[in-house]
Amino acid sequence: LGVGAKAWAVEDLPGGPAVNQLNLHPPVTRIAQAQHDLHWMMLIICTLIFIGVFAVMFYSIWKHRKSKGVKPANFHESVKVELAWTIIPFIIVIIMALPATKVLVAQKDTSSADLTVKATGYQWKWGYEYLTGPAEGIQFLSTLDASQRALSSAGTPQGNDYLLKVDKPLVVPVNKKVRVITTANDVIHSFMVPAFGIKQDAIPGFVRDTWFRAEKVGDFYGQCAELCGKEHAYMPIHVKVVSEEDYVAWVDAQKKAMAALADDPKKVWVKDDLIARGQKVYDANCAVCHLANGKGSGAIKPLDGSAIVRGPAAEMMHVVLEGRANGAMPAWKQLSDTDLAAVVTFAKNHWSNATNEVIQPAQ
Ligand code: CUA
Repeated sequence: LGVGAKAWAVEDLPGGPAVNQLNLHPPVTRIAQAQHDLHWMMLIICTLIFIGVFAVMFYSIWKHRKSKGVKPANFHESVKVELAWTIIPFIIVIIMALPATKVLVAQKDTSSADLTVKATGYQWKWGYEYLTGPAEGIQFLSTLDASQRALSSAGTPQGNDYLLKVDKPLVVPVNKKVRVITTANDVIHSFMVPAFGIKQDAIPGFVRDTWFRAEKVGDFYGQCAELCGKEHAYMPIHVKVVSEEDYVAWVDAQKKAMAALADDPKKVWVKDDLIARGQKVYDANCAVCHLANGKGSGAIKPLDGSAIVRGPAAEMMHVVLEGRANGAMPAWKQLSDTDLAAVVTFAKNHWSNATNEVIQPAQ
């Protein structure tokens, strides 16, 4: 795992991959356990066949190493041999296919779930929306934790874990069947959590689903598993499995926080409040690429004094909402009106000469 002169100083992340982990992740669901068992069964059968075939081959090579002028045995049109090498492999394939099909069918059975969550892939973050159950209506974005963002934009992996920490984990109750509906906003992503034995592509314009029933309380990690652009490696998934009581408490706290954040559409915002809010929106969404100081990095243009920031507010809002035509910047459609107005006000007051602009959400 060494990267140049600086090796990763990898520590165990509880629920994450262990240091020097070679085997599959310890299973936390029955499906993952069944996958493990299948994996071992297949590996053992293949190893036995390998040993048997190679043993016979090496034995005959060794035994006949000095033979000269020996006529090789001829099995041409031998019914016995042909039956044996048809029937034996057929039985072996059936032995492998039966349990594999059983697991596959169970894996696809997303019926009668206790709760349903929609996971939407964005470049490069996950959006979660609870569709059923007590958490219905709760939605948020989950991005690489701010403390780790600097490591990803620095370009060189270093630090003390696998860059798996996010700002907001997906919280689910233990021992409940959770159906995860996947889709994407821009390109194909993939929702994968190895401990649960799930991996489901998230495809723009399509809806797919998978499910899991975590049997253990704890933190479990995954990653986007479909190459989706520059920061594909920095799209972690953190699922926090909690007890039923903790889940109810979490739902309660989320609903209260959402109610407190909901904006009165008639509210007239003063500049300082908008800028403070805009700074938060910027840090959570824009700083990943444009950096905290707005200077950008590499191919990402600086906001400092840019034509878009200095131009009309409506034009800048359009760029934020729709992204750039060539795909250089993703669309930020999920921003609320207030967040959009706030982040544009913040950027204009920071990086354009025309300060004192206040953009009201209603406009
Ligand atoms: Cu999203 Cu890779």
